[in-house]
Amino acid sequence: MRKTQRSVQSLIATLALLLLPSAVFAQKDPGVRGGIQNTGGGLQQQGIPIPHPPLISPNPTTGVPVNPNELASFEEGILRAGQLESTCDECADVTDGSPVTGLGELDPMFPQFHTNSNGLGARHNADQCFVCHAQPQLGGSGGYIVPNPGDPTPQQAENPQFRLVPHRYGRQNNVPSFEKQFGPSREVRFKYNPDGTRDGGVHQLWTVRGSTNDPTIPNCALTQPDFEAQYKAGNLAFRIPLQMTGLGLMESIQDREILAQHDATATLRAPLGIAGHPNRSGNDGTITRFGWKAQNKSITIFAGEAYNVEVGITNEVFPTPTEEDPACQGPEKPAPNDVTRTDSDDHKNQWFDNPLHILPDWMQFQVMMRFTDGPAPDPNPSDSAKRGKAIFANVGCALCHTPQMQTAPVMNSPVLQDRPVNLYSDLLVHHMGSKLADEVVQGHAGPDEFRTTPLWGVGQRIFFIHDGRTTDLLKAIRDHSSPALSQYPASEANGVVHKFNHLSPADQQAILDFLRSL
Ligand code: HEC
Ligand code: HEC
Repeated sequence: MRKTQRSVQSLIATLALLLLPSAVFAQKDPGVRGGIQNTGGGLQQQGIPIPHPPLISPNPTTGVPVNPNELASFEEGILRAGQLESTCDECADVTDGSPVTGLGELDPMFPQFHTNSNGLGARHNADQCFVCHAQPQLGGSGGYIVPNPGDPTPQQAENPQFRLVPHRYGRQNNVPSFEKQFGPSREVRFKYNPDGTRDGGVHQLWTVRGSTNDPTIPNCALTQPDFEAQYKAGNLAFRIPLQMTGLGLMESIQDREILAQHDATATLRAPLGIAGHPNRSGNDGTITRFGWKAQNKSITIFAGEAYNVEVGITNEVFPTPTEEDPACQGPEKPAPNDVTRTDSDDHKNQWFDNPLHILPDWMQFQVMMRFTDGPAPDPNPSDSAKRGKAIFANVGCALCHTPQMQTAPVMNSPVLQDRPVNLYSDLLVHHMGSKLADEVVQGHAGPDEFRTTPLWGVGQRIFFIHDGRTTDLLKAIRDHSSPALSQYPASEANGVVHKFNHLSPADQQAILDFLRSL
């Protein structure tokens, strides 16, 4: 836009503003509630603790809280998920985050708690769970981390995939152009194989080549795939981290509840063209619900898988490494890397809190996730946000983003049973059209199908949509809509987005304010 045009426009806008104060405001995403909070070492340097994953609140129906064993497991899981992993057992055992201040207190020594590494994978996406799950607190979605946390004058927090992870301990990785300093942490799937058949799998970004802290792998010469060429060829499908919070509650919802909630809205959905169906396990046929395409059955499977895929650490559920090059596996990396600790000599794990010690890390991760609470909404929502909640329902967003479901009536952990879960998702997958399609097929989720993203916590997320394409809620909503296009049917959200677009700016604003209150 030319300068004169812009100044004329802003003059008109100012005049209009004086005459009609509220009507001319264009609706606008108010931004991350509470700001971009997790800055890793930066906050630490200022003495501000980084919030831990929230412990699940007592059962609102019965008042029963977690029992002491569940609490101890939850806390142990936080320690384990905060470990920095390296190719050898004790070579990441440094204090460049901050000193260990005592185990009972769980003070955040982000980006690492004291560690006994299980052996970072020859190929990996990162070297600890929390580096990708840290916004607005440890266990959240993808956020920013200070790249030099040990430095007396830490730098501004940024995407940890930009400098921190690819170069930790001297590792020699090329950073592809889609990992931007202030962009989302992205992981990569390839859409197609060179022969034109579907790939769809994760291709890990980094290798351990050049690690200066591990003298046992001097001959590791692995190279990264040519991500830049794949990117240019349009063959990459990105995924950004989801949050770990509230997952035990989501897992405790029965399939029958998911299906009953869906059936209950059938007559409202039909005229709007909203269908939706479950993704299902190929093994037992039950509904799968975790991941952007609802591709995973349980948080336990997710934990084992993430440990292998993201961090490259094999375990009882994923026992085979993605990269087996012997030159890149040190002698201190027995396979599988992380298993139930029945070893008679367990002295290296002294930093962990016994008696829970025997569980492998991946099991502790799932226990931690199970007992995290759902993200807390704004305790004092604005009047606009309160109005927005009703408009969100009236306009039809809630036909996919189901506001509430109930957990199973009787569960092993009474804290999880028979309680409402305000997840804002139907846990089903929907055809979302060509703008969102990523060409990845997972189970019963096709190339343009995605799980309705649970919106609890969306108010404090920085990036939206599976590929992290935007920080703007309005764009996230508009991208729900696409007409039918050769291989893809029209988006199931078209009718609802059409209604959204015809709301007054104030009503659209109310929806945005409501979303930011979640
Ligand atoms: C490199 C960044 C990265 C690291 C490290 C990472 N994750 Fe994730 N996490 C992701 C991404 C990306 C997704 C979405 C994956 C998908 O659906 O394909 C995700 C999703 C998840 C989910 C699913 C949440 C939901 O709503 O369905 C769980 C559970 C999870 N991660 C657990 C873990 C655990 C446990 C670890 C440590 C072993 C871990 N993650 C490490 C990036 C990461
Ligand atoms: C047909 C079902 C459907 C309807 C209707 C629908 N959504 Fe969604 N929504 C989805 C799916 C599926 C995704 C995940 C899309 C992706 O990541 O590619 C999503 C993602 C989102 C996200 C991004 C969340 C994140 O963390 O990335 C927001 C925000 C959102 N929806 C808000 C809305 C609002 C507001 C409305 C009503 C105007 C609405 N949705 C209507 C299915 C729906």
